[in-house]
Amino acid sequence: MRRIVSIDLGARSYPVVIDADGYAGLQQHLLEVCPAADRGAVLVTDHHVGPLWEAAVRAALPRIPLHTIVVPAGELHKTVEVWRGLVDRILAQSPTRSTPILALGGGMVGDLAGFAAACTLRGLPVVQLPTSLLAMVDASVGGKTAVNHPRGKNLIGAFHQPRLTWASLPTLGTLPTDELRSGLGEVIKAAAIGAPDLLDELGSDPLPLPWIVQRCVEVKAGVVALDELESGVRGILNAGHTVGHALETALGHGVLPHGHAVAIGLLAEARYAVRAGVCAQPGLPRRLREAIEGVGLPAELPEVDPALMSAAIRVDKKGSADTLCVPLPVQVGVYRLVDVPWNGIDRLWKTSPP
Ligand SMILES: NC(=O)c1ccc[n+]([C@@H]2O[C@H](COP(=O)([O-])OP(=O)(O)OC[C@H]3O[C@@H](n4cnc5c(N)ncnc54)[C@H](O)[C@@H]3O)[C@@H](O)[C@H]2O)c1
Repeated sequence: MRRIVSIDLGARSYPVVIDADGYAGLQQHLLEVCPAADRGAVLVTDHHVGPLWEAAVRAALPRIPLHTIVVPAGELHKTVEVWRGLVDRILAQSPTRSTPILALGGGMVGDLAGFAAACTLRGLPVVQLPTSLLAMVDASVGGKTAVNHPRGKNLIGAFHQPRLTWASLPTLGTLPTDELRSGLGEVIKAAAIGAPDLLDELGSDPLPLPWIVQRCVEVKAGVVALDELESGVRGILNAGHTVGHALETALGHGVLPHGHAVAIGLLAEARYAVRAGVCAQPGLPRRLREAIEGVGLPAELPEVDPALMSAAIRVDKKGSADTLCVPLPVQVGVYRLVDVPWNGIDRLWKTSPP
């Protein structure tokens, strides 16, 4: 069964295909959005996903001459250095401006390959083939691409919308449990900002993953269509990320999976919102906490050097001279952007349970 959510961005619109059966039909869609693919495409994957899923993609694309580039797996490798090596290897294939880059993997590969596509020859088409839950529900949709810098997450990047996103649900069958949980962190974020019905489903066994992916993509599609380049409301998608990104940086990139950090950030920021009078539902942090712990994610900050945390939260792309713009809950399913003064910024992660 196939579900399709459309990302409506005028000339840059594209479909997100959520396919329960795999990659059948991918070739036709690919050739529709990238007609030059029959002269060659570059498949970028990592050393975990490649051995598991490259063959399935190749089998579905018999008419596309594919050159595969394998990058090391994991957040630690989402760096300028790995990006530079990837660009070198793409250029070695003598691409033209219409040679598509196919990003097969989790959000790390999607961000890295997407950023390489954004820059090479000033922009190659990219197709996202997400294989982690996190990438399906979030990273492969919306066009943000980036690599990390030692000073912070995703500090070097570009907006570069894919031509097509194709989520093959069978790939989730090989995803380690902890990585599936990490994806559920972003699912809880989507629920918190715009789809409380998702929260109710998280207790189901088995999880209705096709519906969950569709619902999260719908939430993201709605926000991205309003504000593609994050000049306003798209900032809501960063719920949980102000504290989450700072935590990832303070602990060292790759120590805590991204979705775990987001879950911890969602709860910390919700507690702050209640204390600061932004959130009118004092029971909201408890509801979030139950959802987070219910899927086996950590809810509380792990041991972290407060000085590193304090420094990391001050390196945020969303800041101005006096304040940091932080999405905070007003009620379940509704967030708004709040300017939090820099001089009280540590309360975001230091507010104790109400
Ligand atoms: N661009 C965006 O809008 C956006 C949004 C959210 C997150 N992100 C980024 O996404 C990244 C996190 O994504 P992630 O959680 O997918 O991490 P990831 O890509 O590092 O994948 C996690 C691990 O799972 C492995 N893996 C992925 N799919 C697999 C499969 N089907 N079978 C077996 N192993 C598999 C990977 O090799 C890796 O070891 C972060 O870099 C984050 O910044 C980007």
